[in-house]
Amino acid sequence: MISNVHALFFSPTLTTRKVTESIARGCAERLNTVAGSIDVTTPANRQETPSFTPSDLVVFGIPVYIGRVPNLIREFFASIKGNGAIGVPVAVYGNRAYDDALLELKDIMEENGFKCIAGAAFIGEHSFSTTLGGGRPNAEDLESAYKFGEEIAAAVPQYTGKRLQVPGNYPYKFFDARNSQNKGIDIRKVHPLTDDSKCNRCGLCATLCPMGSINPADPADITGKCIKCCACIKRCPSGAKYFTDPTYLEHKEILEKNFTIPAKKPEIFW
Ligand SMILES: Cc1cc2nc3c(=O)[nH]c(=O)nc-3n(C[C@H](O)[C@H](O)[C@H](O)COP(=O)(O)O)c2cc1C
Repeated sequence: MISNVHALFFSPTLTTRKVTESIARGCAERLNTVAGSIDVTTPANRQETPSFTPSDLVVFGIPVYIGRVPNLIREFFASIKGNGAIGVPVAVYGNRAYDDALLELKDIMEENGFKCIAGAAFIGEHSFSTTLGGGRPNAEDLESAYKFGEEIAAAVPQYTGKRLQVPGNYPYKFFDARNSQNKGIDIRKVHPLTDDSKCNRCGLCATLCPMGSINPADPADITGKCIKCCACIKRCPSGAKYFTDPTYLEHKEILEKNFTIPAKKPEIFW
């Protein structure tokens, strides 16, 4: 008997949050309860590790990063104990591919005591772009997510413990991104710059950064690693953050050229 439904997500630019919360809402409303949200995007929100019981149902959402579960969150997710809770792995990707990310997430959850009843891959506007997957998840995606949640609630009483199958391969592989000369790219050291004439030093970017890598007293000062999640770029109220790195900009262009069409559709697995 499920008494609590949770949306648990890592979501720097909010697309994963929207999808995960819609699924959890559909499920909770069908069970005459209210879904709770557990946002583990920022270091402040990862101070405590949530843990669950068999009366919980947890919709776990991640954005796909280079075909995998984001490196930053893998270990933290692996520390979350299901203790027999029902789990729903959800990968949100920027219209290129989700590769092995959904399989990897499902495996992490199962290893930690979640019973994965169903899983899904949804599309979110690509973190690097406003045109690749532009505007996703759209109203239709969110309606499918809500309906999927309702179906999960209906399936729980009949759930036999059947092993969930999702696409993906072993060993999990990272996407091998290449430039126009077919050379592998490395953007690990790249980070956004700050336009001083636009930045009003509100410090929002420092609060949002999942790595805690922006100095709140001086948002132009990058104190740690940048994972290119684009939270600071897309959520800065004055549009003060931008990239100039040619390798990054060429990669973004190649992705937009090769993967904008066709628009992919959500996929659901039982
Ligand atoms: C570093 C990085 C790598 C990404 N790799 C992929 C990928 O392999 N395939 C894909 O389709 N989208 C990829 N994306 C796009 C995100 O998965 C997508 O935009 C997602 O909706 C972002 O989720 P969020 O809004 O919750 O941050 C990547 C984004 C980032 C920042």
